[in-house]
Amino acid sequence: MLLLQVSDPHFGTERPQVVQALRRLAEAQRPQVLLLSGDISQRGSDTQFDAARRFVDSLRIPAMLTVPGNHDIPLLNPLARWLRPYAAYQRRFGDELEPVLDLPELLAIGVNTTRPRRHKDGEVSAEQVRRVAQRLRHAKPQQLRVVVTHQPVHVVRPRDEHNLLHGAGAAVRAWTEAGADLVLGGHIHFPSVGLLADRYPGLPRRAWGVQAGTAVSWRIRFEAGNSVNLLHYDAAALQCRVERWDYRDAADAFELARSEELPLQRDAA
Ligand SMILES: [Fe+2]
Ligand SMILES: [Fe+2]
Repeated sequence: MLLLQVSDPHFGTERPQVVQALRRLAEAQRPQVLLLSGDISQRGSDTQFDAARRFVDSLRIPAMLTVPGNHDIPLLNPLARWLRPYAAYQRRFGDELEPVLDLPELLAIGVNTTRPRRHKDGEVSAEQVRRVAQRLRHAKPQQLRVVVTHQPVHVVRPRDEHNLLHGAGAAVRAWTEAGADLVLGGHIHFPSVGLLADRYPGLPRRAWGVQAGTAVSWRIRFEAGNSVNLLHYDAAALQCRVERWDYRDAADAFELARSEELPLQRDAA
């Protein structure tokens, strides 16, 4: 099974040639699932969500899971931000802010980690931790178990530490114990893959934190351009290969930049 993680496209700041290149990548690779990990728009406007939705539909990927990012809450309209922060997002991406995808080889669970009052920072509540863990415990043995947040639970650079999700420690412990294989995030526009036990010692199972860069926005970091992740899941081998595909100007295409095999772990029955 092949999954495409697209994060932080920030429609409104998209680079048209990169959008086209991403469409070509999806056509060539034909992923079965699209995971969209937030900051879909730049300002949370209807126009930007319209453009994002048109783009997502044009990819013709059969299944999709999205979660909002802090940029998907209107920034410039305080009343909307206060009263109906997710209205524009929900008009284009559905009412459910925490969707679940339950497919034969995939259980993907979305968590809304945005908090209008926290501005940029994200948070996971005790109730969200409990709900996700409960769902994970009902996963089928052959399913890849993925939790999707916007703000990261794992970062690799000291300067990104302040962007870690509030409550991440308790969440990672509970979700890993309940069977999570991967926790996917975005927000910092810097791709990485890390063993969660390296940050959270003593986890009962092996699980991985997978971050995607910004897919198509010009809001890139100088050390990281536009990128997306492709996740190849082999249920029989219990392996997940995470490939990072970078957009390269010279080729005007997304090209394979890095590939990592992530061994997964199922507890003995
Ligand atoms: Fe972002
Ligand atoms: Fe963000």
